[in-house]
Amino acid sequence: MKIAFIGDIVGRPGREMIKKHLSHLKEHYGIDFVIANYENASHGFGLTPKNCNELFSYGIDVMTGGNHTWDKKEIVPLLDSHNLLRPANYPEGVPGEGYKIFEVGAESLAVVNLMGHYGMPYVDNVFRCASSLVESLHLKGVKNIFIDFHAEATSEKRAMLMLLQGKVSGIIGTHTHVGSDDFQITKGTAYLTDMGLSGCRDNVIGMDAKQPLNQFLTGLKGHFDIPKKCKKILQMAVIEIEDGKAKSGLKLKVFDDERIIKTEAWIEE
Ligand SMILES: [Fe+2]
Ligand SMILES: [Fe+2]
Repeated sequence: MKIAFIGDIVGRPGREMIKKHLSHLKEHYGIDFVIANYENASHGFGLTPKNCNELFSYGIDVMTGGNHTWDKKEIVPLLDSHNLLRPANYPEGVPGEGYKIFEVGAESLAVVNLMGHYGMPYVDNVFRCASSLVESLHLKGVKNIFIDFHAEATSEKRAMLMLLQGKVSGIIGTHTHVGSDDFQITKGTAYLTDMGLSGCRDNVIGMDAKQPLNQFLTGLKGHFDIPKKCKKILQMAVIEIEDGKAKSGLKLKVFDDERIIKTEAWIEE
């Protein structure tokens, strides 16, 4: 199967890029299943039910969350009724699910959402949670497993690869909004430290530069906004999986001026 992953969709500019490009990219690359991160999709903070339905209508199959999952309270009931995940290592009793299993053609695919520790809310140990979750999926006979690891620290993401290489089909990081340049396949596990945002590619991590800059110059906090006008990008990884192992990976950077930059994942044994 061929799956695609889109990282943090940031505000209207991000949604517009998905609307404009996702269906033709799916067709061109023969993509069977699309995963995308929703945590910043509604004006940079959380997801409204309206934007949730809008994004699914563009051809996304499941959406993953992060620390901003809870910013729009009205999304919480939809965590049970829609294909929406929140990190699996939130403590027991927190609404929603941290993973779901889908039928893609004749095969099963588990999509897992995890959250790191550095700079994040207090949650259960992500490495212990990941180990036991992957073990339980293997016991259920699920081999195709994709993880969105929502974390700030590159070291945590890299350590997750060391823990799960050869056991899952893909681990891609989200949350920093800045794409990294280390797309690889290690022991059959596709890995990228951070996917990078889909939304405004100028300004500061998808937000209007005015407030973050003011905050850094003065130490005073303020409200972050999405720029009214900006240069946009859609970033997407395409992973080909066979029998639980990633066989190839391609990272696409689609610019709103129609340029596309493609980077292939390198393969390690
Ligand atoms: Fe984010
Ligand atoms: Fe985040």
